[in-house]
Formats: sequence, structure tokens, C-alpha cells
Amino acid sequence: MSSEGTRSDRLPLDRSPEWAELGKHRAQLGEVHLRELFAADPRRGERYSLQVGDLYLDYSKHLVTDETLALLRQLAAARGVAELRDAMFRGEKINITEHRAVLHTALRAPRGAVIEVDGENVVPAVHAVLDKMAAFADRVRSGEWTGHTGKRIRNIVNIGIGGSDLGPAMAYEALRSFTDRELTVRFVSNVDGADLHEAVRDLDAAETLFIVASKTFTTIETITNATSARNWLLTELHADKDAVAKHFVALSTNGPGVSDFGIDVANMFEFWDWVGGRYSYDSAIGLSLMLAIGPDAFREMLAGFHLVDEHFRTAAPEDNVPLLLGLLGVWYGAFFDAQSHAVLPYSHYLSKFTAYLQQLDMESNGKSVDREGQPVRWQTGPVVWGTPGTNGQHAYYQLIHQGTKVIPADLLGFAKPVADLQPGLVAQHDLLMANLFAQGQALAFGKTPEEVAAEGAPAELVPHKTFKGNHPTTTILAEELTPSVLGQLIALYEHKVFVQGAIWNIDSFDQWGVELGKVLAKKIEPVLVDGEGLDALDSSTAALAGRYRTLRGR
Ligand code: F6P
Repeated sequence: MSSEGTRSDRLPLDRSPEWAELGKHRAQLGEVHLRELFAADPRRGERYSLQVGDLYLDYSKHLVTDETLALLRQLAAARGVAELRDAMFRGEKINITEHRAVLHTALRAPRGAVIEVDGENVVPAVHAVLDKMAAFADRVRSGEWTGHTGKRIRNIVNIGIGGSDLGPAMAYEALRSFTDRELTVRFVSNVDGADLHEAVRDLDAAETLFIVASKTFTTIETITNATSARNWLLTELHADKDAVAKHFVALSTNGPGVSDFGIDVANMFEFWDWVGGRYSYDSAIGLSLMLAIGPDAFREMLAGFHLVDEHFRTAAPEDNVPLLLGLLGVWYGAFFDAQSHAVLPYSHYLSKFTAYLQQLDMESNGKSVDREGQPVRWQTGPVVWGTPGTNGQHAYYQLIHQGTKVIPADLLGFAKPVADLQPGLVAQHDLLMANLFAQGQALAFGKTPEEVAAEGAPAELVPHKTFKGNHPTTTILAEELTPSVLGQLIALYEHKVFVQGAIWNIDSFDQWGVELGKVLAKKIEPVLVDGEGLDALDSSTAALAGRYRTLRGR
């Protein structure tokens, strides 16, 4: 029997002895404060740290003890996290509702690796596509690939949404200092025509390459934007559809769909149904990124992913960083009623990192039935949110410090600024990082009423100026934000999400919850246009649609 099959033989999570033990332990911990935990163990800061690749992870500022960690690891063992992980790496169909393998790890496997799906080794095909992408990227970057009028390509516009947008858009920002600064790279996702309008309004069509990125090639936003982009191009160039071949390429699993759209399948970069959309930016979906940073840097990024894959697959539970991060999230959700998780990068280049993680985490683990279709009685995925740290400090950090909610947070930073930063700006980096370290400290240890009073605060202000502290954070520190480090970070979060889904016993790889809205939008659009069917809508939607039609003069 496959390891996915054995999962249903277990007791439900909340009836398991390991869960009960954790509950008892939580009650014993009571209101323990990080100040006490640090006082009891002067070496806690070093002891509660791990290293994977270039990533140093400090988890000392978490509300855990050695016993908590041991109990959490026992939970992981009892829930079969390692077995499901191994099944994933082996190419078993662990996405049970879609009956698909989950093999984003194969996208960064080395050339010689053997990973089989339905008896076929998928690694050669992965590398064939990577080689095709690299050859294409080299031609575009060198100017050998020209547009319809013979001009070289200077603008790249990726059209895609969700996993076909967020990954490359995030990584392009993250790795800007590694990009060819002569290329303009933009990302269009929103079906709001404003997105495409703003992306192309100052571009020369003759120098513009559109990358239509869609796993299914049926996503309405993407097909609508791609059709509009094609119309724009042909109008701007006063050309007929022959011009499309030089200005449009596709990234998809759907060859016939690409061909129907009018893109030559020779200009299609393929991937496969075992790559989930939100796990796809290291597949052909990363073509825009590869064009920007070049094939070598892209491969360095893949090596970074692979390094963490291997760590996750082979490291002992005590040293396994994704396992630890996953377990900490389970701990706070179940036993502290934490509803959300903040990701706070102290790097401007990671401005889209949290938005990317929102899809990765919330589309994966935003589920309320288990793998057997039964309602879950425990918390599943948290609301993931955050923006670059220093900006957040002047906005919502107030609530994290003094609000009423438990919000575990990740603080991410880099010892060195990017290599091409203007020399005059390098000194600012110490201030940036001082803020990161200061926030971790303030969140953990706070400021007692006695400390506030000793500073001379009037008695009535003491409660207002007191910081309770005890807010848990993980700090992730690396030397520099390089392509490899970015790959390591993303793989870390991918596997963290995996661990949590395995413990919660949910299918982290489907996304049925996005379907209903898509279907209803298709039905409502004609109502908005011609008014027919308005009466069949519920009274709220009918009133809104009616008002909309009036405002549009219909
Ligand atoms: O929003 C649902 C979703 O299916 C995502 O999972 C996916 O990343 C996105 O739409 C885009 O899908 P596609 O790449 O098929 O256009």
C-alpha cells in the first residue's frame, strides 16, 4: 500500500495521544515569558539556532522549551510527515483530489537524477526545457532574436496570474541587482485593463516580447489580457498576425490551447501537471526571470532550491529547518489560537515576497476538510501577511506590539547590501539591520511597567507605555540576497507549508476554493452587459448589478 493510503488509518489529529500531550504541556507552560526562558538558559540564543545552506535561523524567541520541541517532533513522526515527504519526492500521487504527483522538487533536480512519474523518468524532460529556455534567453539577451520589424527586444511583458505571475514577479524584484538593467521587465496579471494599459503605454511594440504564462491556458484573466496585448501589438505595428510569432511566446502545459490562441508551439515552453501553479516559478514559468537574470543565475537559483530540498529530505528531525518552521506554525495555531503569520523582510528587494507566500501558503493550506473529506476540527493555514519591515514599523507594528492578538512573525535580513548599491548608500544598511534586530528584541522582551516607571513616566501613562513582549519571532539571516539564497528561502517555505498540510491531514496541492467565484463571474458578466437574467440573481447582487448598469448608462 502506498504511504498516502495508510494515512486514513490514523486517529484524527485532535484525538491522537501526541496532540493530547501537547495540550497538557501547553497548560503547564501557562503564561511563561520569553524573559524567563532566556534567563533560565543563558545560551538559548545560540542553542535554538540552525543553519541550512546560507540561511542561519534563530528560533530562540519562540514560546517553546526542549520539551515542546520534542513533543512537536513526536507529533510529526506519529502523523507520518516523513512518509508523506518521501512519497512526494518519489513522485507518488499525493495530490489525491486531482490524482496528481507533486514534483516541484524535480524541477531543480540535477541532470543525472531519476524521478519517475507513471514509470517515466521526468528529469531529462525538465532539463530539455531548461536548455530550450536558456538558448532562447541567450538569443533575446544578445539581440539575436529580433521582433517583426528587425528591432532587438528591449521589453519583456509577462502576462499571467497567480502562480504564473507572483513567482517570477517576486523573484525579478528580489534579484534586480542581478538583472540586465537594459531590459524593461513588467508583469501584467489583473483583468482590470488598467494593468495592461500602464504596462505598455510607454513601450515600443517593435521592441516588446510578451510571455503568456498559464499552466492551463484557459484562465480568463490571462487569455483576456493576452488577446488585448496581441491586438495592441498588431495595431501598433500595423501588422497582420504573422507578427505574433516574433513577439509572443507561451509557458504552458496545454499545447492545443497555445496553438488555438495563435502562438506557434515551437515558441512554447512546456511544463507538466505535476507542477502546481504556486510551485511553478522554477519551471518554464520562470522564463521572464531567466531573461532578466540570465541562464547561469537562474541555474544558481535552482541549485539553492535543491540544496534545501536535500536538507528537508535527509536532515534529522532535530536539524530539519522546514520541519521546525512547520511545527512552530502548528503549535501557535492550535495552542495559542494564532490566526495569522507575519512575514517581515528587511530587504526592499523582497517587497513582493510576502504576496508570493500568500498564494503559496494560503492556497495550499486554506482548507477545512481533511484528506478523507471530513471536516477538520483544528486550525489549518494562517492568514499570511506583511510588507518590508521598516515600512511596517511605521504602520501596523503597533498592533503586533500592543494589540490583543498572537502574531508569530518571521524577520528576514541580509548581512550585506546588494553588490551594486551606490557606495553612498551602503552605510544605511547597518541602520536597516539594527531595526530588524531591535524589533526581534522588543517583540520578545518588551518593556515592563517597572522599567517604564523608572524612566519617569507619569503613573497614568505607565500602562500605555508598557510593552508586554512575549511575541514570537523567527529570524532568518543570510550573508547576501543572491539567486541561490532566494531559491533556498523559497524551498524552505514550500516545505514548511508541506509539513503543516501533512500534520493537518489536508491536501495542500489542490485549490477547489477558487472555482466558485470564477464560474459566477462568467455568469454575471453577460448580465452586466445586456441586463438579461438580472431577476434571477439574489436581491443584493441584483441591486448592485442594476446600479452598475445604470451608472454605465445601460
Ligand atoms: O487562482 C487559481 C489558479 O488556478 C492558481 O492556482 C494558479 O496559479 C492560477 O490560477 C493561474 O492558473 P494558470 O497558470 O492555469 O493560468
